[in-house]
Amino acid sequence: MKIGNQYYQGIWIDEGDPFAVKVIDQQKLPFFFEIKELRSVDDVYGAIENMTVRGAPLIGAAGAFGIYLATLEITHTTNIREHLANAARYLVSCRPTAVNLSWAVNFVMDRLKNEQPSALTKIALETAVEICEMEKENCRQIGKHGLKLIEVISKKKKGEPVNILTHCNAGWLACIDYGTATAPIYLAHEKGIAVHVWVDETRPRNQGAKLTAYELGQSGVPHTLIADNSGGHLMQQKKVDIVIVGSDRTTKTGDVANKTGTYLKALAAFDNNIPFYVALPSTSIDLSISNGIKEIVIEERNPEEVTNVSGLLNGTIQSVRVCPEDTVAANHGFDITPARLITGLITEMGICKATEKDIKEMFSNKFS
Ligand code: MRU
Repeated sequence: MKIGNQYYQGIWIDEGDPFAVKVIDQQKLPFFFEIKELRSVDDVYGAIENMTVRGAPLIGAAGAFGIYLATLEITHTTNIREHLANAARYLVSCRPTAVNLSWAVNFVMDRLKNEQPSALTKIALETAVEICEMEKENCRQIGKHGLKLIEVISKKKKGEPVNILTHCNAGWLACIDYGTATAPIYLAHEKGIAVHVWVDETRPRNQGAKLTAYELGQSGVPHTLIADNSGGHLMQQKKVDIVIVGSDRTTKTGDVANKTGTYLKALAAFDNNIPFYVALPSTSIDLSISNGIKEIVIEERNPEEVTNVSGLLNGTIQSVRVCPEDTVAANHGFDITPARLITGLITEMGICKATEKDIKEMFSNKFS
């Protein structure tokens, strides 16, 4: 996506310096646009953990580049297979909910399985870049399929703006490009279809306020920032035509793990008969599990993310406490939206119902 006149993607390597994996520091956005260089497995682990990079597809790509950097750490005394297996386990342990991390790390490790030591670095880099291209194409296709939903509503509204509510940041910053939930929105905007986005602030880390508002602003897409808790009211007031969110892990039966608060939006949409769509690449589908509420591990993060809020003050990013000093807080990063509340899944292969039968049909090759 373009920032000013410069094209950026979520993660990349410059030919001139193949030892540095480059990312946009999402902890600094929207106040500062800084590129961060990751040069070791530890750098990648740290960047995922402290959310310099976040969002399921981007976390996956970062994990893949982490294995590439692990191959650069091999010396003549290294037990290569053990070193790579340790690096893979370490990277996958970083954040538990987004399945893309383990998917991407295992995808690279599988490619390296039968390779000669001399070829490991080349294959690992090629595979990490391949994953980026794959995810870019997945999101482009999600945009095309999701666009049809917006076009139908726009026609019904005789060209009046289509009001889309989204939660967290499932935009290009969370992916390699285009985003998942945002891909249809960008395409509609490009095609001159009037859209307007209600952007949930998305406490506690405010990915909506900081990242989604930033992205949409950069692309000129009309949007309004809202408190997380006001989405239900807007739905009752018929000010929301469709909800589109992302996914960190979707089960084979269609249960969806996404940023905490998504489930509450799904309940409100269901109660107000508003279509609730989840946009995701197939790399975010975990075929090994069925019951999302019982089987998906929900990340618990530092409670300080709840007791404090960070923002810009006097030109620097500062954190301020929003509760009494000794308040006990809990910080569950994600929740589960059961398949029964989801109108459909927007994937790179098309739109399907959130049922095991429909997901199986849509991804018969993946199931085989
Ligand atoms: O904690 P985060 O910011 O990594 O959570 C991100 C989300 O919940 C996104 O909606 C999800 O990863 C999909 S990103 C295309």
